[in-house]
Amino acid sequence: MNLPNPGRSPRTTVRGQSYALEIGVFEGRSTVWLLENILTHPSSTLTYVDTFAGGAEHESQDLTDLESRFRANTEPHRAKLVARKGRSGRASRREKGTQLISLK
Ligand SMILES: C[S@@+](CC[C@H](N)C(=O)[O-])C[C@H]1O[C@@H](n2cnc3c(N)ncnc32)[C@H](O)[C@@H]1O
Repeated sequence: MNLPNPGRSPRTTVRGQSYALEIGVFEGRSTVWLLENILTHPSSTLTYVDTFAGGAEHESQDLTDLESRFRANTEPHRAKLVARKGRSGRASRREKGTQLISLK
């Protein structure tokens, strides 16, 4: 997970319902962190955008089951997730009301 202090509590907490957009989720580690630490309100949602094809940094990895791994890792939070599979440019333009964006 690409977070500075993943073991610590976030300095900023979000009270109430919130809407997040995460672009580039890979296996879902940062997605789970956001859901467990920021988007804790039961009505909060996280829209995720990913091709599940990986980036240049993943060229040597077998990513054929990447989307399945993401779904398995985020299964406990499924009710809060909105899928937008595809490239970031097209998919993210459809999102309105987003309050938090995580871009990797
Ligand atoms: C570095 S990984 C994300 C890591 C993740 N956020 C974490 O912290 O665990 C980058 C992700 O972005 C996705 N990706 C790369 N280019 C993309 C694009 N143009 N549109 C959508 N997703 C893209 C890849 O499939 C990959 O899953």
